[in-house]
Amino acid sequence: MKAQILGVGHALPERRLTNQDLERMVDTSDEWIVERSGIRERRIADQPTKCSDLAYQASVMALERAGLSAQQLDLIIVATATPDMYFPSTACIVQDLLGATNAAAFDLSAGCTGFVYALDIAEKYLLAGDYQYILVIGAEILTRILDYQDRNTCVLFGDGAGAAVVGKGSSDYGILSSIIGADGSGAKYLCLPAGGSAMPASLETVQNRLHYVKMNGPEVFRFATRITSEISTRVLQKAGFTYNDVDLFVPHQANLRIIKTAMKRMNIPAEKTLINLDMYGNTSAACIPLGLSQAHEEGRLQPGDLVLMVAFGAGLTFGGILLRWGRD
Ligand code: ACO
Repeated sequence: MKAQILGVGHALPERRLTNQDLERMVDTSDEWIVERSGIRERRIADQPTKCSDLAYQASVMALERAGLSAQQLDLIIVATATPDMYFPSTACIVQDLLGATNAAAFDLSAGCTGFVYALDIAEKYLLAGDYQYILVIGAEILTRILDYQDRNTCVLFGDGAGAAVVGKGSSDYGILSSIIGADGSGAKYLCLPAGGSAMPASLETVQNRLHYVKMNGPEVFRFATRITSEISTRVLQKAGFTYNDVDLFVPHQANLRIIKTAMKRMNIPAEKTLINLDMYGNTSAACIPLGLSQAHEEGRLQPGDLVLMVAFGAGLTFGGILLRWGRD
């Protein structure tokens, strides 16, 4: 028995924010952003679009492609760092929007690794036997927590959502191996300091711009370059495969330099690597399902393909999943 992806979907806001737009907002340049990150533009959601709206749109597409109704879902997991609000969970809001009245629902916080964490959990639930169908969503409106006076962060992120319907199958298709992990000593390198119980919202926290993402870019970069190839190796070895067997590498879309380092270390060519950060930037937990949905639409995913997904993010968290694409 394996956990299989039955359908994938995604949602993107219409509005594009280009590097040229950012040049007019902060002290940056298209040249710097492209050279240091590979990003050219990103999508930005206008008010009143919420995280749950993008999650809902992506889910409708994923359910349609899976050929299932919302009523058939047993569980909804939304991986996000930008929920609609602290509580209730965005997953509960999506459950209501979908009319998925038979589904339990919860959010998961693992930064950009959120979708990989959620897919790993979904697999465990499915194999434990209780559930038939689980909706796993990565959805973010990161641009609402970016400081457009901080050039270190505001150029990197964008909004979007991706979703996957996961179910059980008895053929060779499905998740072959999975690893998730964390190094909490790196929590300080990527965080949103205020608004939680450690630093409740006050006039002072707002004045000091503490409700925005703070990041130590070089530290996260060091961690990411090491962990991406390390987890790829471990997840492949766990299932008895090598880099040469990979048909599609779907890495987290944080920085082209991080992706290229991993490709070089693993000897995975460009045609086998999914890169969309030039168009969407880093959409955090949405990157991987958005990439899968896009690859599916472009015909880059065929039944039997070996797909390697690897992510890292706030926490610091990391995770990798090896999947044989296809379903019963
Ligand atoms: N435009 C122009 N100059 C800039 C910009 C900008 N947008 N941002 C930073 N700089 C400047 C810095 O101020 C610095 O100037 P200084 O030397 O005068 O002090 C110089 O560029 C170099 O800065 P670095 O931070 O050392 O640049 P680096 O080459 O490391 O690139 C970057 C920065 C792109 C942030 C890189 O470190 C990175 O991608 N890190 C990983 C980030 C990441 O993956 N985050 C997502 C994690 S996932 C999640 O959970 C959300």
